[in-house]
Amino acid sequence: MPPNNEKSAQNALFSCIYAKFVVSLQRQKCCKMRNTIISTLFLLLLLAGCNTHQGQYRIGVSQCLDDAWRQKMNAEMERELLLHPELELSHRIAYGSNELQCAQIDSFIAERVDLLIVSPNEAEEVKPAVTRAYRAGIPVIVADRRVSGDDWTAFIGGNNYKVGELMGSWLLSIQDQAKEPIRVLEVAGLPGSTPATLRHQGMMETLARHEGIQPSIESVMGSWYQEDAYQVVREYLSTHQQVKAIVAHNDLMAIGAARAVHDTEGYGKGSVRIMGVDGILPGLQAIVDGTIECSATYPSRGDMIIETATHILAKEPFVRDTVLETMLIDASGANPMLVQYHANMHDLETLHIVQLQSEKRWQQIQYGRLVVIIAVILVVLLIAGGLCFLAYRQRKIHKEIKRDILPQLEEVQEAIQLSHRDVAFGERLKQIVEDHLTDPDLNVEFLGSALALSRTQVFRRVKAITGKGPLDYIRERRLVRADELLRTTDMTVQQVALKFCFSSPGYFTKCYKEYFGHLPSKR
Ligand code: FRU
Repeated sequence: MPPNNEKSAQNALFSCIYAKFVVSLQRQKCCKMRNTIISTLFLLLLLAGCNTHQGQYRIGVSQCLDDAWRQKMNAEMERELLLHPELELSHRIAYGSNELQCAQIDSFIAERVDLLIVSPNEAEEVKPAVTRAYRAGIPVIVADRRVSGDDWTAFIGGNNYKVGELMGSWLLSIQDQAKEPIRVLEVAGLPGSTPATLRHQGMMETLARHEGIQPSIESVMGSWYQEDAYQVVREYLSTHQQVKAIVAHNDLMAIGAARAVHDTEGYGKGSVRIMGVDGILPGLQAIVDGTIECSATYPSRGDMIIETATHILAKEPFVRDTVLETMLIDASGANPMLVQYHANMHDLETLHIVQLQSEKRWQQIQYGRLVVIIAVILVVLLIAGGLCFLAYRQRKIHKEIKRDILPQLEEVQEAIQLSHRDVAFGERLKQIVEDHLTDPDLNVEFLGSALALSRTQVFRRVKAITGKGPLDYIRERRLVRADELLRTTDMTVQQVALKFCFSSPGYFTKCYKEYFGHLPSKR
């Protein structure tokens, strides 16, 4: 899925989850506050998700070797990447090992890279892994060296046959100046790699087409390495005299061969003319220095490889098989090329620095945003925590009121009601007693029937209100009224005692004294 689609799908998913979440919260009728808090947090996460860095395509780059030529190719890829921030490269180097390269490709397959760029060490040996990647649905761009079979998406590489033709023509130009066949040493690259095969083939077929004297060619294997080339050339030269020219399949081996010539007795300075292939920094410098005579350019075009990758990933049309041109560079061309090369490398370095700086800036922005998001989340959590605490306190206070204060309130209310009832009862009691003070039947039973209470209730309630038993209360009230009559009328103690139903005047006098503290007498 292209990154933008992936991103919008991700956002849609976020929105959908968010919406469902809110709806389900509402459905569950969770408390409003919790709803709001969780929704806010979710929304923040959603925003954070929306603003994440663009979706990326991961491209695995499997390089067979690590040398100046491949470093140039990698640098060209990285430069092109500046135009495609949606791409991310992961480099793995096999250091000339087919097994290691296959394992590295398999690891890219396992990681499900979006595209694989592979420069195979040897065509046959690396083929199975490339096929596995291709059949796993990973688009494969084969670069520089070809792979056997047809399980690849695109190829971009130099014209190795033409390189071989240039080598052949250069040899013929030397041969043409000689009357006898010249002795030539070919220092070949790794035999299983397609550039070595095609360069040799191009050279031999060019020579074969020549009708004049044919140079005598012998081959040694330098396997693309400078040191290997030095060893094999040194060995060869020590047993073979009169080698007039060396064609090496790359500049590094040509430089190694030049060193071998220099170190071998019987070969003077400039006695062997040497040609290399690649035409990048070490080769150009060697030409300028006079260490080797010339080189055939062999473009790496990492930029083109990345561009093709973007077309493949975007499902746009692309050229399936791109063969890059080559040309011969000698001392006249090497100098300006070297200047240009340095300028290019400087540009690349500058771009690299700019890229690093912008990446750093981007990281700072990301970091800043993360800090803001975390801060907002913390503030929301803090507010939420505060609100929860307040709610908790409120609920606690509520409970306490319910548990402690309400019962007390109820008690007070009850007491108030009771006292209201008591007052009413007291008044009725007083009224009944006052109305029947002279009635000899005024006793507990009388009060019981008048107040619709049992004997026990009469005792309890009268005691509660007046602080004394009913008979005592009745007697007290009779004494008070008798005293009043004694004080306000002409009635005698005997008459009064009789009126208020005392059994005898003596008993009245006794009770009176007890109550008032003195004897009843007319005042
Ligand atoms: C770099 C290199 C080049 C050569 C190419 C052939 O690794 O050896 O020098 O031209 O590979 O694949």
